[in-house]
Amino acid sequence: MESIINPPRDPNTLSNYNNWVSTHVTANLDILFDQQKLVGNVIHKFKSITNGESQDIILDTNHLDIGEIKVNGKQSEWELLPRLEPYGTGLKIKLDSPVALNETVEVDISVKTTEKCTALQWLTPAQTSNKKHPYMFSQCQAIHARSIFPCQDTPDVKSTFDFNITSPLPVISSGLHVGKSASAARPGHYLYQFHQKVPIPSYLFALASGDIVEAKIGPRSVVATSPDKLEECKWELEADTEKFINAIEKIVYPYAWGEYNVLVLPPSFPYGGMENPIFTFATPSIISKDRENVDVIAHELSHSWSGNLVTNASWEHFWLNEGWTTYLERRILAAIHGEPYRHFSAIIGWKALVDSVEHYGHDHEFTKLVVDLKGKDPDDAFSSIPYEKGFNFLFHLENLVGKDKFDKFIPHYFTTFKGKSLDSYEFKTTVLDFFSSDAEASKLLNDFDWEKWFYSPGLPPKPDFDTSLVDVVYELAGKWRTFSESGFIPKESDIKGLMANQIVVFLEQVLLFEKPLTPDQSQLMGQVYGFAKSENVEVSNLYLQVGLKAGDRSVIEPTTDLLGRIGRMKFVRPLYRGLQKLDRPIAIETFEKYKDFYHPICRAMVEKDLFGKKNA
Ligand code: BES
Ligand code: ZN
Repeated sequence: MESIINPPRDPNTLSNYNNWVSTHVTANLDILFDQQKLVGNVIHKFKSITNGESQDIILDTNHLDIGEIKVNGKQSEWELLPRLEPYGTGLKIKLDSPVALNETVEVDISVKTTEKCTALQWLTPAQTSNKKHPYMFSQCQAIHARSIFPCQDTPDVKSTFDFNITSPLPVISSGLHVGKSASAARPGHYLYQFHQKVPIPSYLFALASGDIVEAKIGPRSVVATSPDKLEECKWELEADTEKFINAIEKIVYPYAWGEYNVLVLPPSFPYGGMENPIFTFATPSIISKDRENVDVIAHELSHSWSGNLVTNASWEHFWLNEGWTTYLERRILAAIHGEPYRHFSAIIGWKALVDSVEHYGHDHEFTKLVVDLKGKDPDDAFSSIPYEKGFNFLFHLENLVGKDKFDKFIPHYFTTFKGKSLDSYEFKTTVLDFFSSDAEASKLLNDFDWEKWFYSPGLPPKPDFDTSLVDVVYELAGKWRTFSESGFIPKESDIKGLMANQIVVFLEQVLLFEKPLTPDQSQLMGQVYGFAKSENVEVSNLYLQVGLKAGDRSVIEPTTDLLGRIGRMKFVRPLYRGLQKLDRPIAIETFEKYKDFYHPICRAMVEKDLFGKKNA
């Protein structure tokens, strides 16, 4: 009978989480750098949420090596179900007898990761910053936790965690550090213990280990990174982190997790940031020596409310995580730099939204706010759309009811769903309920076309943004557009006083020209404005795009060079696309050369982009 009446609302898990939920996980794992494996056992406490309906517990796994399984201390039978792409292999654990509603069982699984693990990257000493020690780190979102340990790999289930991790090198995890002691079993290794008392979904499970040291960046925050990078990371983050926390605490409510720390990873980290609780994981490309990429920190910090406390029930409702987070990130920026800056950031976001919609096509499923992911890999649906359509949806609601009223709704929403997961329908009901006693707002919200926002593909209506911070750069871009006719002579002073993000907007405008720059013009721009040598990767990446589009072969070398230095997909994927248009053999050669440098997730995505494996 199982799963027939109530199919789970997350289509991207093989687990039968409508029968059982994991309430606590103890992960006892040894980090074996020499074998590039995690080895140990994981203990789940499962609560039965039916009255003995299912005698099987089915968990998600992907390329795992499973050993013995004990249920309540007794060896149990288990089997791996046939593999189902792209989700992996269900692990079916058989129980001796039915379990009554709300009763629990303890399931202890011996497990080893394999070389096909998609969540972990293992770096040799030569691949690290100071080249002294190996390094490893995880990236579990969206459905990669199942390649580390058997779990209910769905954002619709939350568990508390104990991490007992043995390693020869310092360890970081998504829990609060509670102890370090010499390992009895392995000389020279230490047991690092962490506890996460706030229930979290599997995708927030995180580990990193390597030559890592820490420095304080605020009253409740440290930055952790390689010893040779510590000072510059500290400088980049110490001015803003606590300011950001204070700002968002006023908008939502106090920070719930104790510490807010940042781990700056090696350059192959595939994302800008990942909101692992207690420790945000961040790309080193935010360390630009100008404190101009800290909006990534405002973003990951915001996830401490949207995503980590209040979670999308499945990846089909990903906008609830990322749209809300983008909204809160921009509220933080407004609190600190003023309202025009929020609009400025939203204008940058709108451009990303337009690009994504054009990339997929205006009718594509993945351009909807709520997407259908049955049978799909959530990584393939990843784009700016949930972020920016989600932001615009919330911004639209804010404008509809008025900012003062919406401000009161924010803490209400985050209180109602604190510790829970929800879908877009529950979101709608909560909005309508909250404003039901307000006749004016109610009328507007009942007339509001929710269905259209949720399900129509393509662009939403464009709001009237305050353009005060972009006007200057639009004007400058205009001069470059008419370069040949107008006799415009670029000078270094053209960009004096501009923020890096304004330069980003300028370069994006240049990329939009119907007639691309000539190779000479592109080179001139790079030299006069110093873009070619910029330390800010957001700037150098876009400048390289301009050069590639202009057919300026002198940017090929700096492009392949950057592709060998950074594994953040935001840069890597567009640069390969741009490079392949100009010179496909060089793009392929570069990928072959650097593919081992990239994280498995990034490697797989670039492979899809370059060789068309599956349609992403
Ligand atoms: N949670 C995301 C990263 C992510 C999304 C990883 C989906 C895996 C699957 C993170 O919060 C994020 O959005 N990072 C952005 C930062 C930016 C929007 C400031 C990134 O990586 O660029
Ligand atoms: Zn995010």
